[in-house]
This record gives sequence, C-alpha cells and structure tokens, in this order.
Amino acid sequence: MEEHKLSRRIFLKSTGGAAAVVGTAGAALVLGAAQAASPAGSTSTNLNYPKRSVGKAGGMPVNQAVSFSYPDPSSPCVAIRMGSAVPGGIGPNGDIVAYSTLCTHMGCPVQYEGGTKVFKCGCHYSMFDAENGGQMVCGRPPKTCRACCSSTTRRPTPSAPSASTG
Ligand code: FES
Repeated sequence: MEEHKLSRRIFLKSTGGAAAVVGTAGAALVLGAAQAASPAGSTSTNLNYPKRSVGKAGGMPVNQAVSFSYPDPSSPCVAIRMGSAVPGGIGPNGDIVAYSTLCTHMGCPVQYEGGTKVFKCGCHYSMFDAENGGQMVCGRPPKTCRACCSSTTRRPTPSAPSASTG
C-alpha cells in the first residue's frame, strides 16, 4: 500500500463505529464515516471523520498487516487481507479487515500473528481473532478489538458493507 491519501472519516473508538472503504483491485482503500444511528438512550457517540484513502485494495498482500494511522497520527491501525471472506470484511472479496492496534484492555500495542490470524497483546497476553471481528479469544479486555472498517466504493455486491466495533 503505497498510497496514503486519507481523506478522513471514521475510525470507531471503543464504542463508536468506524468505516473504511476498500474498492476493487485498482480502487483505493479509504476510511470513511459510518453514520450509525445511536439508539435512543444510547451512551455511545459516533463522530464524523473525513474520508481518507490508505492505499490500494488490490495491492494488499494476503495475511500481512499493513500499517496506517487513523483518525490521527497517534492512532495506529492495521488493515489485513485475510484471503477469504470474513464477517464484516470489505473489498471486492469481502476479505479485508482493519483494526486499531491498541489493546482494548489498557492500550498496549497488539501484534498481528499471521500463523494463527490473531492479534496478541504482550502486556497481559490477551488475544483477538482477526477473522471474527476482533473477538477476544482469551484475556482480560472487556471488548473486542476496535475495528476501523468498512464500506467499499465499488463492491460487486449490492449490499452496503459495514463493520462495527465492539
Ligand atoms: S493491555 Fe492488552 S491485555 Fe492488558
């Protein structure tokens, strides 16, 4: 992913909803706003962040974390092309996911391990499943990994892809 023109929008912090956009082979991977409606009485807040292209979906390697930051330079994230469609996946094949790399427990950095397809936190040994929406496999955090996905500009399916965080 050489192209790093992020026009901006959402990256859902722990309770928010993020949206990224991944297009077909030549289209740009773009983070964008997911304007999820908050139910009445909800304590969550969704913020509108500008759209931001983070690279070309077609150029992403399979099962390798591609780093970027969103919505600001101090918010590290990775996008991963899993190689087959996954829940919440975006892009032409529904196989691209993106997450914050800050642990939902106490904010330590998590590392993606391609062999097991999980994120591991070295601080308290929590693990999160990259193929299942960042769901915690084991550990202390009360939440799943924060997703920063998903919608696609030219996805071949008629449904509008979206992803939420936990
Ligand atoms: S900070 Fe990651 S498990 Fe505690």
